Amino acid sequence: MEITRAEAFAPATMANLGVGFDVLGLAFAQPGDIVRAERSERPGVTISAIIGDDGKLPLELERNTAGVAARSVLRLLGVEDTIGVSLTIIKGLPRASGLGSSAASAVAAAVAVNALLGDPLTRAELLPACLDGEAVASGYHPDNIAPCLFGGITLAYGIEAHQIVSLPIPERLILATVTPAVEVPTKEARAVLPTHVPMQTVVVQTAQIARLIDALHRRDVPAMAAAMEADRIIEPARLHLMPHLAEVRSAAKAAGAHGVVISGAGPTLCAICDCYETAVRAADAMVKVYLSYGIEAVGRCVPISTEGARVYALA
Ligand code: HSE
Repeated sequence: MEITRAEAFAPATMANLGVGFDVLGLAFAQPGDIVRAERSERPGVTISAIIGDDGKLPLELERNTAGVAARSVLRLLGVEDTIGVSLTIIKGLPRASGLGSSAASAVAAAVAVNALLGDPLTRAELLPACLDGEAVASGYHPDNIAPCLFGGITLAYGIEAHQIVSLPIPERLILATVTPAVEVPTKEARAVLPTHVPMQTVVVQTAQIARLIDALHRRDVPAMAAAMEADRIIEPARLHLMPHLAEVRSAAKAAGAHGVVISGAGPTLCAICDCYETAVRAADAMVKVYLSYGIEAVGRCVPISTEGARVYALA
């Protein structure tokens, strides 16, 4: 029997992990985006509705990360001219928040369309389609797409599936995030980055990335957090886009967090914790800092998603 409808969930992600700009990332268990894919008469992809975006995201295929990813799946399968798919995008993630919103829509769309067609492609084979979608928002970098599609903590040393490595997840790791009501478009956050970096800074940054990978292999949460926080290239350049970062970091650490980093391009900040109670306290403390400045903020305590995107409804 032909499948007429498939829905997929793709989780929020944190790119960079502080020091690993454009190469490291992890998947949060929630929140995330949902994309429903349905068969339609007209060949190709159409976006029939976007829910939960306050009308801010484009329905136009070319400009929508989900639309482009879905079309790339049809192209990979050579059926763009024969099969019609209509998408409904249900946004659980705020855009321009540093939670991988554009990547989640692209991944959910690719996974849903693949499920609709009977799962002809593996996750690895879906990667190029997901990257095509993400490129609409901010170019080809797999640090959100890889954990979103595959789950866990990932290192991407290239954009092909064989260049994505799954890293160990410390058992005690739990994250507290705070998302202030401030938009930081990724393109803007990338435009402020330096084009040249002194060699000594590169040496320090490289050492800290290596330290982070080692800490993950030893499941050492405090060392992991210290390495993540040691970023000397990206955070200083973006500091002015992240209101009250220093104060939020102090508040989370006073609550017991081991470190605080910018999630992706921000403004979401993420506190690295090793027990749920600490994460609750850290999230609460971080939210209170923003509220004290009259800025609304949402705090969350989330473990890592080991599975990444998933299909959860078919008809
Ligand atoms: N690595 C990216 C950045 C993630 O920090 O610009 C945001 O898409």
